[in-house]
Amino acid sequence: MTTTRGLRDREEPITILTAYDAPTAAIVDEAGIDAVLVGDSMGNAALGYDSTLPVTFDEVASRTAAVARATEDALVVADMPFLSFGVDEAESVRNAGRLLKEANADAVKIESGPHTVDMTRHMTDVGIPVMAHLGLTPQHVNRLGGYTRQGTEREAAEEIIDLAGAHAEAGAFALVLEHVPANLAGAVTEALAIPTIGIGAGPDCDGQVLVINDAVGLGEWAPPFSRQFGDVRGEMLDAVEAYRDAVRSGEFPADEHSHVEEDLDELY
Ligand code: KIV
Ligand code: NA
Repeated sequence: MTTTRGLRDREEPITILTAYDAPTAAIVDEAGIDAVLVGDSMGNAALGYDSTLPVTFDEVASRTAAVARATEDALVVADMPFLSFGVDEAESVRNAGRLLKEANADAVKIESGPHTVDMTRHMTDVGIPVMAHLGLTPQHVNRLGGYTRQGTEREAAEEIIDLAGAHAEAGAFALVLEHVPANLAGAVTEALAIPTIGIGAGPDCDGQVLVINDAVGLGEWAPPFSRQFGDVRGEMLDAVEAYRDAVRSGEFPADEHSHVEEDLDELY
């Protein structure tokens, strides 16, 4: 069983992938990935939305429960979706707690900012491990004006370093750094005692996370900072076309897929 403390003590780089359903989580777990993130990236990757903003608490809770049922060793981290936290602190803590209590997550992730420092401490105090997330925070796409690299100017970079420290101080057990310059991620990693997990943040983080669709080649598109380690979309398309052709040609189902009940001879 991977624990939040276990992640911190790992010698090798930490590996994290997203998953949104049981069969995918079982594969990720079987491969020995350290943590499964039930990301709100499910909005794009699994639910057909064009951003993460429409993703609901119930969608994340349901997917988290499915992932948790299929996971034996990996840490299960549930992402808190847009507006499920940050409006009211008590409600935020209760929602985070429900992801542990009802959906069997081991920890939550929140898109962090100046407004989440006290919230992170509050969650940690009641026993909810928090993974912080700085740099590009996709729930802020309307404020940021796009999914652009963050922390590219000195002032913005220093703000990320300060916020990273504040969240570590508040008890966060790890920090995701998304789409920031590699040297900023390196500086944050150097400064923090908790592990940094990069996505589009260069090689100097303590670990890496990718969206599973991007990593295995399930989507039609992947961000340039990602890498397709497989061609699952191509494999599935081949299989689906083979099924279509086999049914149309009458080749499937064959005798070996069928059962004839002798007693039913001369039924009509
Ligand atoms: O939702 C998600 O998958 C994420 C990761 C990309 C860090 O937040
Ligand atoms: Na997310």
